[in-house]
Amino acid sequence: MTKIINGKEFAAKLRALTLKEIEVSGLKPGLAVVLVGNDPASEVYVRNKDAAAREVGIAAETIKLAADISQAELLAKIAELNKDKKIHGILVQLPLPKHIDEKAVINAIDPDKDVDGFHVINAGRAFTGQAGLVPCTPLGCILLLKDLLGDLSGMNAVVIGRSNIVGKPMANLLLAENCTVTIAHSKTRDLPGVCAQADILVAAVGRPKMVKANWVKEGAVVIDVGINRVDGKLCGDVDFDEVAPKCRAITPVPGGVGPMTIACLLKNTLDAARRLRK
Ligand code: GUN
Repeated sequence: MTKIINGKEFAAKLRALTLKEIEVSGLKPGLAVVLVGNDPASEVYVRNKDAAAREVGIAAETIKLAADISQAELLAKIAELNKDKKIHGILVQLPLPKHIDEKAVINAIDPDKDVDGFHVINAGRAFTGQAGLVPCTPLGCILLLKDLLGDLSGMNAVVIGRSNIVGKPMANLLLAENCTVTIAHSKTRDLPGVCAQADILVAAVGRPKMVKANWVKEGAVVIDVGINRVDGKLCGDVDFDEVAPKCRAITPVPGGVGPMTIACLLKNTLDAARRLRK
C-alpha cells in the first residue's frame, strides 16, 4: 500500500510546536514581509504568511510597496528593517518587478534575518556545513522525508530542477543527510532513466504531471514540489494517478509539500530570533 504523505497534518503539528517553543522561549519574534507591487498570487502568499505567523505568536507586519518603487528606496527600507531590533525575520516576496535586481535586494538583507535562506551567505553556509537559515520548501521536504524514513544515509536521491530556491538547496540538504545525490535538469540525458535509479525522487520543475510511472523505481519515495494549475485545478510535477501505485510513499498536490513551506518559515523566524538573542 502506498502511503500518501499528509503534509497538511505535519505542517499543523510543526506550527503547534513552534507556537509552544515561542511561548517557552519568552521571545517575541518579529517578521517583516515585504510585498512590492500587486501581483495577485503574491498577495495571497503574503496574506497567508502574515496570518500563519500571527497564529503562532510571531509579530508579523506586511509592508506593501508600490510596483514603481526604485531599487534604492527598496534597499533603504531593507536597511531600516535590518537595524530594527524588534524584527528578527525579513522576507521579500518574489518575483520583484523587472526594474529591480532581485539578487541585490536579497543580499541586502541581514543574513541572520534572512528567513527565506536565499542570501548568498546562507547558501554558502549550507554548502560548507555551517549553521545558517535554510530555504523553507527544501527544509519542509527534508522534515517529511526524515519523519517517514528516519536515517537517509546511503540512499540514492534524484532532484529534478536546479533552482536556487528549491533544487540546489534540496540537493545540498540531502547530501548533508548522507544521500548519494544527483541533480537532474532540462539538459539531462535520459531523464526517465536517471530518475528510475532514485530511492528518493524530488520533482521541482514546474511542469504539470511530467514525471510518469516508468520514471519511478518500485518502492521509491516521491516528493512533488510542483504547484501547477491546469484547467483551474492544482496538480504537481508528478502524474500522481499513475505514479502513486508504484511508490512506497508520495506527497499529493495540494496537501503535500505546500503547507510545509509556511510552517518552516515560522520555524526559521523563531530560529532567527534565538540566534539574534545570543
Ligand atoms: N515566491 C515564490 N516562493 C517564494 C518563497 O519561498 N519566498 C519568497 N520570498 N518569495 C517566493
